[in-house]
Amino acid sequence: MTANSESRKILMTIALPYANGPIHMGHLVEAIQADIWARFQKMQGHEVHFFCADDTHGTPIMINAREKKTTPEKLIAEVWKDHTETYKGYQIGFTHYSSTNSKANQEMCELFYDSMKKKNALSRKSIEQLYCDFDKMFLPDRFVKGTCPKCGALDQYGDTCDVCSATYSPSDMKNAGCSLCGSKPIKKHSEHVFFELEPHREFLKEFLESSTSTEVKKKMLEWFDGELRPWDITRDGPYFGFPIPGEKDKFFYVWVDAPMGYISSSKEYFDSIGKNYLSYWKDKSTEIYHFIGKDITYFHTLFWPALLKTADFQTPKAVFVHGRLMINGEKMSKSKGNFVAASTYLKHLQADYLRYYYATKLNDSLDDFDLSFDDFMNRVNSELVGKITNLASRGAQMLGKKNNNQMTTLDSKGLQLVKKAQNAGSEIKKNFENREFSKVMGEIRSLAEEANRYFDELAPWKTVETDPSSTFQVLTSTLNLFRILAIYLKPVMPEYSEKVEKLFNEKSYTWNDSLKILENHNLNEFTALITRIEKEKIELIMKETLTLNEIIQKEKSASSTAAPVAAAKDTSVIEIDDFLKIDLRVAEILKAEAIPEAEKLLRLQVSLGPLGERQIIAGIKSAYDPASLVGRKVIVVANLKPRKMKFGMSEGMVLAAGAGAPDLFVLSPDPGAKAGDPVK
Ligand code: MSP
Ligand code: ZN
Repeated sequence: MTANSESRKILMTIALPYANGPIHMGHLVEAIQADIWARFQKMQGHEVHFFCADDTHGTPIMINAREKKTTPEKLIAEVWKDHTETYKGYQIGFTHYSSTNSKANQEMCELFYDSMKKKNALSRKSIEQLYCDFDKMFLPDRFVKGTCPKCGALDQYGDTCDVCSATYSPSDMKNAGCSLCGSKPIKKHSEHVFFELEPHREFLKEFLESSTSTEVKKKMLEWFDGELRPWDITRDGPYFGFPIPGEKDKFFYVWVDAPMGYISSSKEYFDSIGKNYLSYWKDKSTEIYHFIGKDITYFHTLFWPALLKTADFQTPKAVFVHGRLMINGEKMSKSKGNFVAASTYLKHLQADYLRYYYATKLNDSLDDFDLSFDDFMNRVNSELVGKITNLASRGAQMLGKKNNNQMTTLDSKGLQLVKKAQNAGSEIKKNFENREFSKVMGEIRSLAEEANRYFDELAPWKTVETDPSSTFQVLTSTLNLFRILAIYLKPVMPEYSEKVEKLFNEKSYTWNDSLKILENHNLNEFTALITRIEKEKIELIMKETLTLNEIIQKEKSASSTAAPVAAAKDTSVIEIDDFLKIDLRVAEILKAEAIPEAEKLLRLQVSLGPLGERQIIAGIKSAYDPASLVGRKVIVVANLKPRKMKFGMSEGMVLAAGAGAPDLFVLSPDPGAKAGDPVK
């Protein structure tokens, strides 16, 4: 549609999802919220550009690629495909979806860095961090594991405890170890570059005042009690990211190049249509909006505006912050088995149901909200199907059969209700604009309830034979009411509204189409617009989610403990010489003991006969009682490079079959084999 004279220029974004896993139901809160708003604005005739990208850099993605035996570039390319397909399945209508690992983004980082230097916004300081001498890298908090200093839970991350939710720094932990190899990290110095935030104090206060909600502002102002600390924008190599020009082995911290992705994604698009991206990013006639979750408010309302200002870009007109999604009353987590992937849902149910449900829950607050699958099913079935869609099926089916799909005119009561529904449009519009979607949905629902009452009172099924002409009027009024509601619902359920357009033989509803009344108008043949959600579908989603979560958990435990258990993951073909490189030997277990601090590990002392004795740390604790192993002959990889783990050296690997703990079956030779015998 073409933009009208009061047309606004809107550039909006959602936070860039990490290219480290699938899109899940939590991500969809933001995507659906923003998409509803974008579609609403387009229906008003405004020019809307909606950008996003994958957030591809940082240590976790680098390590993830390493564990999957691929390159970060290949990994993020696969994830990009998956993310974009998933968003498409939910009708998220991005103008362009890019990646932060792009040329445009690297150039943007360099441009901003240049401005920071020119404006003397940077300082340097040597800082001390944990470093793994075995893996030769600095360890972000998430890559340190140990005992929680508060509750004593084992195997917790270096920043927060999953059990008691305490937050701390890794140096407070007991038995801190590198999560990759288990060895004890050392402390090491390195010089970092910092972006000074304190000089922006007044500007940032003003920004919070003008561009965030009262709730967000209040939270963020707490940071202003003390000095606004300089922000570390460097990371040392090895790091998957952009090198900092003029520095050796230093990279931009992922949180520097991630928000740049907003600009570079838009630049790629504007370049492609021959427009200058700066006419959006530096021109006050463009309204810029960021939709984000509350966990990343700090970055978006303090660092980001300060960076934009330093580089002479305009700051966002508003940052819209939403709360967290819980599932069935609990925080989403793979270990709880309620981490629902967006693609799992889509295999069984269409997107419109979820878009409807989220809309009934969303508003302009930071409150968390729950996706309870029972409530989801009940609400969709009783409201969307039972109340709203019912109006169409009741009206259109009878009119089809009895009056050859011909609408007539409105009766006086019907006209009154239609006027009322049309008048409600301005309040609904205001609530859409303010992202008070739950209010929008409440208004629509109550209009639908009223329409159903009207229909029931006049009971057209009773009068259709005796008084067809007034009956057809009731049906015509009911259908007009339904049509208006469907127009209001178009930003929420684009697919649904398209079907309604077809039913009424119309095209691409805009907001003002709700002011029209259809009389003596021909309907198309009625086909079901949407059906009830069946309980079995929900059960399938939950079942698949559980299985998927279990697999992820197993993969995680197999890789994160560095347990030397054979994993037959790689199925690519090898040469016989490759196989012969592996020195497989029969070993006899002499001693076996549990390592109390490690959930999954046993310490084994084995004899390789003439090759001597070895210590092997094996991740088989969950499957074997140590005493039962003593005296047993097993197969080990004897020439594996010894690995220094948190609990000592591991000098080999015990072969086991099975999917991973607790499905683990240690391999043994038939009786007669002696310790040290080669296996070929
Ligand atoms: N990559 C960063 C954002 C960089 S923006 C320059 C990031 N990625 S994320 O994948 O963890 O989250 C992306 C968005 O999804 C964030 O706004 C986050 O708040 C939101 N959500 C992630 N899990 C969520 C819920 N469970 N519930 C609601 N939103 C959640 O942060
Ligand atoms: Zn390590």
